[in-house]
Amino acid sequence: MRDVDTYAVVGHPIAHSKSPLIHAMFAESLGERLVYERILAPLDGFARTVQTFFAEGGRGLNVTVPFKLEAHALCEVRTERAIQAGAVNTLWMDHGRLCGDNTDGVGLVRDLRDNLGVTLREARVLLIGAGGAARGVLQPVLDEAPAMLVVVNRTRARAEELVASASGPLAQRCKASDFATLDGAFDLVINATSASLGGDIPPVPAAAFAPNAFVYDLMYADKPTPFLAHARSLGVTTCADGLGMLVEQAAEAYERWRGRRPHTRPVIERLRDALRREAVSAA
Ligand code: ATR
Repeated sequence: MRDVDTYAVVGHPIAHSKSPLIHAMFAESLGERLVYERILAPLDGFARTVQTFFAEGGRGLNVTVPFKLEAHALCEVRTERAIQAGAVNTLWMDHGRLCGDNTDGVGLVRDLRDNLGVTLREARVLLIGAGGAARGVLQPVLDEAPAMLVVVNRTRARAEELVASASGPLAQRCKASDFATLDGAFDLVINATSASLGGDIPPVPAAAFAPNAFVYDLMYADKPTPFLAHARSLGVTTCADGLGMLVEQAAEAYERWRGRRPHTRPVIERLRDALRREAVSAA
């Protein structure tokens, strides 16, 4: 057993993860003492890694690529939003049972609404992508009551499947599309594809960006992501990458584990500075 509350992020790969830095800043700002580590789990050894961590007295885990679905399957208790997302990024034990939450979607909504001042209510929202990242944010965005939420995806069937998973009184505001037949202009465009990992940009027509559209990329980088650079080249002036979402999902996990909510704004600013410094030293 450990004498300091111990947390960790589990993934494969994991060396790049900013979570230890974020949680260390949260703890420092609240005057709390904790340890937060990175754990590289073998691709075939996630369940074993989780069991060992909690058996040794660990208090909470964040889960990242590629284990969020497996984490969901492993849990004995899941929050409503984890069930909706079909994925879990936050784990803890309660009376001997493994519990899981998904804080990604609420992290995005908080970043958009509280940090960036984007109005979701009655907005026309375009969600690009229908993979795991899009699934994690669909319902929390829909719950903010946009006028419409169109999911556009290269593989249309996946968009339709994702839309069919929407629930609640606003579910009928959610529609699926492919790029070729995408119609209309949107006030908020969210890129939840992994296209930029392969150096690509999802083929969203220029007409999809309404005048004054806000563009958000779930990815983040030390410079504008390829999708944000593309949006800017089309005249979009207000946009943000996913660094704020990363910090907000972490704050939600921190509160879930420790019952106290850290301030996120100074952490986002410090991380942004750190990213810039890394970019300069790598140049
Ligand atoms: P993640 O967990 O990051 O969402 P994923 O489940 O593999 O990863 O989903 C990747 C998403 O990015 C999908 O929506 C994928 O589209 P398909 O469903 O058609 O595969 C999308 N994507 C990846 N590369 C893309 C590209 N070059 N252009 C457009 N969409 C792309």
